[in-house]
Amino acid sequence: MTSTDSTPAELTPTATPGPRMWVWPALLWGMMRRGDDVIDEQFDRYGDVVWLRLPRFPHFLPDGAQLVLLRDPALIKPLFTAADDLVDSAGANRALELLYGDRSLFLLNGPEHRRLRKVLLPGLRGDALAAWGEFIAGSAEREARTWFGRDRVLVHSSMLDLSLELILKMSLSISDADMPRWMPPMRELLATATSPQATFRYGLRQLGALRLWRSFQRVRAHCNELVYAEIARRRAQPGVEHSDLLDLLMRAEGEPLTDRELRDQLFTILIGGHETSATLASWVLERLVHNPDVYARASAEARAGAGHEYMDAVVQETLRLRPPLAFVGRVTRRNFALGEHVFPPNTLILPVIRAVHRKAELYEDPELFRPERFLETRRTPFGHIPFGGGPHRCLGDHMGAFQTRLVAQAILRVAELSGGVPGGGEQIRRKALVLVPARGGVLRATPREPAPTG
Ligand code: HEM
Repeated sequence: MTSTDSTPAELTPTATPGPRMWVWPALLWGMMRRGDDVIDEQFDRYGDVVWLRLPRFPHFLPDGAQLVLLRDPALIKPLFTAADDLVDSAGANRALELLYGDRSLFLLNGPEHRRLRKVLLPGLRGDALAAWGEFIAGSAEREARTWFGRDRVLVHSSMLDLSLELILKMSLSISDADMPRWMPPMRELLATATSPQATFRYGLRQLGALRLWRSFQRVRAHCNELVYAEIARRRAQPGVEHSDLLDLLMRAEGEPLTDRELRDQLFTILIGGHETSATLASWVLERLVHNPDVYARASAEARAGAGHEYMDAVVQETLRLRPPLAFVGRVTRRNFALGEHVFPPNTLILPVIRAVHRKAELYEDPELFRPERFLETRRTPFGHIPFGGGPHRCLGDHMGAFQTRLVAQAILRVAELSGGVPGGGEQIRRKALVLVPARGGVLRATPREPAPTG
């Protein structure tokens, strides 16, 4: 039985295996100590669909009266492609409202969601993206040169700044001179909203924990002020073109977007796009430093100016073993069939990206970092899901991969990277929803020897 061959009225929820409720404290404790390996263990024990019986904390998770973890691509496909009236992506993203606002693409479904995606997509694909190539490579080279002479570099924070600058330019055409006004508050907003207390305060929001969170309210108000002032400036000069994402949004056909709607989309792109891309670039550099054969092949390609086929494979393999986001979510609206399972309404189903990517049935020697696998065989559909899928698939998928490849190649052209941490690489640390290098992506960089001439 699939989600399409029965009407909801005919379906009766089925029992799904999973750990007992009293195991929760041990699971949480295990996750704090050993990270997401604990989730993999649940799959190994119960199969590819695991029901986590939840204690009744009505505000702890957005809509999840039940929580289901999913690792089977054959079931992820019908979940991602199910109609809006069966499963709801916005419901699974409710916690993001805190940061992005309730008109954000993350929180929308249906025609308005489709309209906004259509408006923004041309700015994040093809020629519009290619036009930023030189800027991205130039900025990455400049950044790498600042690393020389230091004992150690923490690439994650470098990549965060690089990414934020790029997305500010693409979205709002912020000039170099104006960057110092924008970067610090945007950095602070992200850091505050992804701090450990954010989850805690969100859980207690009904008690006013968010309203009373002074540092967050202050920095959000500051960022709002900057964004609304830019919107007002543009409204006052309707004839001036900027060729950026705000322009696309303001010129969208149909009902014009309100200031609030514009703000929410800008926050979504600025914040949603920059940490994920920066984290991917950091992991690519971290993986290169810890895999000398891969490093040699990728740097030879970059230095010879011989295209980007291998670096693309490195990026894909990094997205497989180090996906920046741990999972995506969908909430059932009605009784919903997935394979032999039927879930009741209000079930939060989480395809666990990292676990899918480590399935031995999909990837030979799954723990091995081997980019060549992406050059050799075709992949199982929905077996590689770093950007989610279906109508809510990441809007910045092309940009994230393109930017990362350019950044990594530019750095390899000017620098020799070494160092890293002993023991094969950095641990994965969860920072809110993002899986970052635990030590910040530590490495050393020296100027590359010029190529012999003649
Ligand atoms: C390597 C970098 C990135 C990764 C790994 C990533 C990952 C994801 C994932 C897993 C989702 C959820 C998809 C789903 O629910 O099926 C998502 C959604 C989204 N991402 Fe990304 N992302 C990245 C970069 C970006 C960039 C650069 C932008 C914007 C410039 C962006 C904008 C968005 C938006 C707007 C959504 C919501 C889409 C919707 O609900 O329609 N992302 N991303």
